[in-house]
Formats: sequence, structure tokens, C-alpha cells
Amino acid sequence: MSESYDRGLVEDFGRWTEFSAGMWAWVFHKFTGWVLVGYLFTHISVLSTSLQGAQAYNNTLSGLESLAVVRILEVGLLAVAVFHILNGIRLLFVDLGVGLEAQDKSFYASLVLTGVIVVASVPTFLTGAF
Ligand code: HEM
Repeated sequence: MSESYDRGLVEDFGRWTEFSAGMWAWVFHKFTGWVLVGYLFTHISVLSTSLQGAQAYNNTLSGLESLAVVRILEVGLLAVAVFHILNGIRLLFVDLGVGLEAQDKSFYASLVLTGVIVVASVPTFLTGAF
């Protein structure tokens, strides 16, 4: 007979101090995945202004790019996309059973590499933004 007992919800954010590296990787992967989906809809709506003509499209893009908050959000988007890709590749290895003993280290490596790439991108995204 199987035994059942109430261990509470592991996903309960009240227990975040108990989260291991793998749990944070799971939280960040979900968060970044759904932010990317949200961005995709925003992206399509911006692209669709081209249906009103080239001038409308140019005005939309130059209006958006002239806002510092949009430039900062672009850096955030890069951070989210790079982490999702790097951690996604890590997850594919985990699913294949490759490097399981180093899965915490590979999560930290994804975070550090994301940080380095994001910092390196700042001059490109934020030059002339303020
Ligand atoms: C090279 C690019 C990408 C890689 C390698 C990648 C990899 C992955 C992997 C392996 C998973 C499954 C995670 C699991 O085992 O639970 C996943 C989930 C997901 N990805 Fe990606 N992904 C990429 C790009 C994208 C993009 C561009 C989007 C959105 C437009 C996206 C949205 C999502 C979402 C929504 C999930 C499900 C999150 C959840 O569990 O609720 N991914 N991704």
C-alpha cells in the first residue's frame, strides 16, 4: 500500500528560502519563457503598424526607440532571452542525462554568462538613450 503525507506545496513561494538551485532554474525558466511569449505578441503588434504605411511604421519605431524606458526594456529582453536559451540548452542536456552531477554549476554558469552578455550589450542598447 502506498503511503501519503502532506509535505505542503513545494511550489509555495512562502517556502522560497528552501528552494535549491534547480528550483530557481525552474522558476526563472518559466518566467523567461512566458515573458518571451508576451514580447512576441507586442512585437507582432508593432510590426503590424506597417499595414498603415511606411510612414506610420517609421513613426512607431522612432517614437518607441526615443523612449529611454523602451531601451532599458530591450536590455531586459536580451537578459530574458539569453538566460532562456542558455538554460534551455542546459535543460536539454539534463533531459538527456548528460552532466547531471554538475547541473547546479551549469545553472550558475548560465546566470554568469547571461550577466556578461547583458553587460556587454549595454553600450549598444543604451548609447544615446538619455
Ligand atoms: C534557442 C531558444 C530556446 C531554447 C533552447 C528553449 C528551450 C526550452 C526548453 C528545453 C523548455 C522546456 C523546459 C522544461 O523542461 O520544463 C522550454 C520551455 C518554454 N519555452 Fe523555450 N526555448 C527557446 C526559445 C523560446 C522562445 C523564443 C520562447 C517564446 C517565444 C520560449 C517560450 C517557452 C515557454 C513558454 C516554455 C514553457 C515554460 C513553462 O514551463 O511554463 N522559448 N524552452
